[in-house]
Amino acid sequence: MPGYQEVYESSITDSRKFWLDLAQDIHWYQAPSHALDDSNPPFYRWFPDGKTNACFNAVDLHVNNGRGDQTAIIYDSPITGSAAKISFQELQTRVSLVAGIMVDNGVVAGDRVIIYMPMIPEAAIAMLACARIGAIHSVVFGGFAANELAVRIDDCTPKLIFAASCGLEPGRTVEYKPLLDSAISTATHQPDTCVVLQRPQATASMIEGRDVDWTTAESSASPADCAELAADHPLYILYTSGTTGQPKGVVRDTAGGIVSLKWTMKNIYGVEPGDVYWAASDVGWVVGHSYIVYAPLFHGNTTVLYEGKPVGTPDPGAFWRVISEHNVRILFTAPTAFRAIKKEDSSGEYLKKYDVSCLKALFLAGERCDPDTLHWAEQKLAVPVIDHWWQTETGSSICSNYLGFDLLPIKPGSPTVAAPGYQVDALNPRGELCAAGEIGALAIKSPLPPGTFTNLWNAPERYQQAYFSTFPGYYETGDSGYIDEDGYVFVMARTDDVINVAGHRLSTGAMEEVLAAHPDVAECAVIGADDSLKGQVPVGMLVLNSECNKSEDEICKEVIQRVRNEIGPVAAFKSAVVVKRLPKTRSGKILRATMRAIADGSDWKMPATIDDPAILDEIAGSLRSIGYPQRT
Ligand code: COA
Ligand code: AMP
Repeated sequence: MPGYQEVYESSITDSRKFWLDLAQDIHWYQAPSHALDDSNPPFYRWFPDGKTNACFNAVDLHVNNGRGDQTAIIYDSPITGSAAKISFQELQTRVSLVAGIMVDNGVVAGDRVIIYMPMIPEAAIAMLACARIGAIHSVVFGGFAANELAVRIDDCTPKLIFAASCGLEPGRTVEYKPLLDSAISTATHQPDTCVVLQRPQATASMIEGRDVDWTTAESSASPADCAELAADHPLYILYTSGTTGQPKGVVRDTAGGIVSLKWTMKNIYGVEPGDVYWAASDVGWVVGHSYIVYAPLFHGNTTVLYEGKPVGTPDPGAFWRVISEHNVRILFTAPTAFRAIKKEDSSGEYLKKYDVSCLKALFLAGERCDPDTLHWAEQKLAVPVIDHWWQTETGSSICSNYLGFDLLPIKPGSPTVAAPGYQVDALNPRGELCAAGEIGALAIKSPLPPGTFTNLWNAPERYQQAYFSTFPGYYETGDSGYIDEDGYVFVMARTDDVINVAGHRLSTGAMEEVLAAHPDVAECAVIGADDSLKGQVPVGMLVLNSECNKSEDEICKEVIQRVRNEIGPVAAFKSAVVVKRLPKTRSGKILRATMRAIADGSDWKMPATIDDPAILDEIAGSLRSIGYPQRT
């Protein structure tokens, strides 16, 4: 069997042959005759003349190949106390009917469909149903507020929206329908139809003429078949945070995603068809798209859809119960989930109650994995703990260790080495290669491999400008870091205003827009401060208008509530403080990085361009008053 190095090199020296060979591993209605259309960089098209269907590859293919009785989805919901298993055969039936609901409501290939649903099987069914007929889905995470949903409705102009009456957070029912109605009423674009699944925990009120009851519609729908789609037909749009309040609609094509994701299951995660694979994330994030729904199903695995948390549902043994009950081979989650478990059960008492010997490895991603968490997980689980580096834009890992090959030595703090197809370099501001160990901007040589984003919805110029303009010939990841003498990549921090809160990517710029809109706020800045549980949390600094006659405490409470209402609880914006002024360079640029260093208690240098150094003492005092730097 070839080793990692050999496979990696063949993916770089003859990438077209490499990917065209791998493309033979999926089902095509029309196989591609060549690998890449590079006539219009950076808009590359992989497998340009191929025709395929993601739903067929995820579902029908397995039924046709005799896996119909195998469980495709295990739904495990400690929050509702329920569980269910859906076979590939049952999945095919339900997906075809839900696709039929769309056809009945006039949805055709290329139309957009928003899915605003919690972690229940119907969310995955709706995604697959869209893929079946070529409707382009856009899943919106349930922790976003109505305003964020409205922004997405206006950007991708869906013909139809799938929603559920509610999501369930520990101790709280999140009613989705009022949020959906409010989003539609503020949006300019109006969907024709909303298909609403009534859950027993909350009954949504329906709007005559627009809203359709999911269960009734599914029971009367005629099954719809898979459409033969062009390889570059968009499979989905997934919005992610950029530096402004306008999220970026990452577009993933159909064929690239199937070929690359299917390959990763055996080669990165080391699973065989039939194995149980669990990504403890949410369908609203890219990890959920790739590794709760598509990749495990493409590979004929059983995927676990878990409606719960690592702790509190009901205790820090929740993950161990799921692993042992369902014979999970691979668990993929964010380091923050393990920090939460470690915080509540550092000695691993709950782990002792379960037999987790079925687990082969733990994969972590979504944020930098601190060595403490890595070592704790290694020691408690006694399996390889693999940090791998990811972005919504790439759809699968850029760097990883590989269970499908001989495992490379683990270096804590590094997501190991570049995945096949990815040529990762650290570049200095002049675009030159950094020396080994020297920190620079992490960039990937263009063209990116299949499965990576092909555009930004409605924003091709932003696609070009935001990602491909700084370093000619490269995709700019927005992460900084270094590569050591063994080729191990270390991802250190973002180079932009994006922060990572509990493995969720959020824009401080978007939060600043909300704070700045408060009538008493003259100026503001939001920074991501280190947090022992969530990795980072946002902290707002406010300069008030001189005529403000409310107390500072009142204003802070108001802006915290505004961020919750306008961006959503997932922003975890809970700290704000009033300051007299913000530190700036002489040209007026706010010194966010210096404030962040002060908040983290890390070393910082007085910026040479600061207009008034005394301000930094004031900032340090204000941050201390709200508990920063955090004591661990
Ligand atoms: N719908 C509605 N609200 C949601 C939500 C959803 N789907 N998901 C989270 N929220 C809410 C939470 O209830 C919480 O609200 P609160 O302020 O009223 O308490 C808020 O958003 C922040 O949520 P979260 O960041 O998840 O924090 P938490 O304290 O509820 O849980 C962890 C902390 C570590 C347990 C949790 O963040 C976790 O499991 N993280 C894993 C991250 C992950 O899967 N990342 C994906 C990349 S792999
Ligand atoms: P998202 O697009 O939400 O998946 O977030 C992607 C960002 O999360 C990356 O650009 C990184 O900043 C961060 N990230 C993801 N995985 C890792 C990792 N293994 N190590 C360090 N940072 C990571």
